Amino acid sequence: MKTNSAPVMPGVNDPCWCGSGQKYKRCHKARDEQQKQPAQNQAQPITPGRVSPMRTVPEHIPRPEYAVSGRPTSRPLPPPMNQEQLARMKKSCAAAALVLESMGKLVRPGITTDEIDAATHAAYIAFGGFPSTLNYHGFPKSLCTSVNEVVCHGIPDDRALQDGDIVNLDVTIFLHGMHGDTNATFECGKVDELSKKLIRVTKECLDLGIAAVKPGRRFRDVGRAIAEHAHRYGFGVVRKYAGHGIGEIFHAPIYVPHWDDPDASHVIEPGMIFTIEPMLNLGTDDVREWDDGWTVVTADGKRSAQFEHTVHVTESGAEVLTVPDRSKL
Ligand code: MF3
Ligand code: CO
Ligand code: CO
Repeated sequence: MKTNSAPVMPGVNDPCWCGSGQKYKRCHKARDEQQKQPAQNQAQPITPGRVSPMRTVPEHIPRPEYAVSGRPTSRPLPPPMNQEQLARMKKSCAAAALVLESMGKLVRPGITTDEIDAATHAAYIAFGGFPSTLNYHGFPKSLCTSVNEVVCHGIPDDRALQDGDIVNLDVTIFLHGMHGDTNATFECGKVDELSKKLIRVTKECLDLGIAAVKPGRRFRDVGRAIAEHAHRYGFGVVRKYAGHGIGEIFHAPIYVPHWDDPDASHVIEPGMIFTIEPMLNLGTDDVREWDDGWTVVTADGKRSAQFEHTVHVTESGAEVLTVPDRSKL
């Protein structure tokens, strides 16, 4: 018989409905409650805007191998970097962090994401670097701008940022033969309290993920540290995109999930370099891709935030490379 009654949720101490075997209060309770909340702000859904022509880079700037074809060749994970390579990697990551820091200061109501892209493009070139995203698998712009319910890979366009928006700027520079990758979510004007909390908790998740990096641990342990914190607040953790190895290759084969993925039993080793870049959603962790082939949005239209660092594994833990420190250039 078909009934129309609302699903009955387990008692707080009963096993969770998801089958994890954990008590409901330790598992999905916070998320179920968070997801019942209506969207907290009045912003219109993000829609595709006009994308300006691809920007050019002066001839004297060295380019990654895919810059012309748009197709990176797939390569195995390179061996750990020697001192000379690591020194170049540190400079590239410092430059990325400095670019991100200065671009964040441009975020205000009225500026278009295309204008931020133009400024980012010029900033990479001023460092002697190339925009890693430009023509990467055909991506048309020099950074990713992901507004409100856009999870990642948003394409800069002619939409002006509005008071109350949240916007992630994902900066990647190819400098001294190395990619440095970092992102942050910024508040535009006066932002509602729930969005502020989402941003704060996402940043905390990145910091907890970094703190969980220790030689001998498994990558899933990093993911677990992140997801546990997010779920405490009822936020969804995106599983479709993960952190990655990085260096001479933009996306090198190290898989860094932001949840306790049993498939991530590989062990963290000194000398490894990878990104950690959790994406947290106010509602469902489920995502959709626009037919532009890039823009990823939340399936329920609620907001999403992300933070990213590139880190280097030392004997004792993780060293964050994407620090905005001019003395490291
Ligand atoms: N910077 C993104 C990352 O963190 C990748 C962007 S690739 C692009 O991995 F093609 F979408 F630009
Ligand atoms: Co990345
Ligand atoms: Co990035």
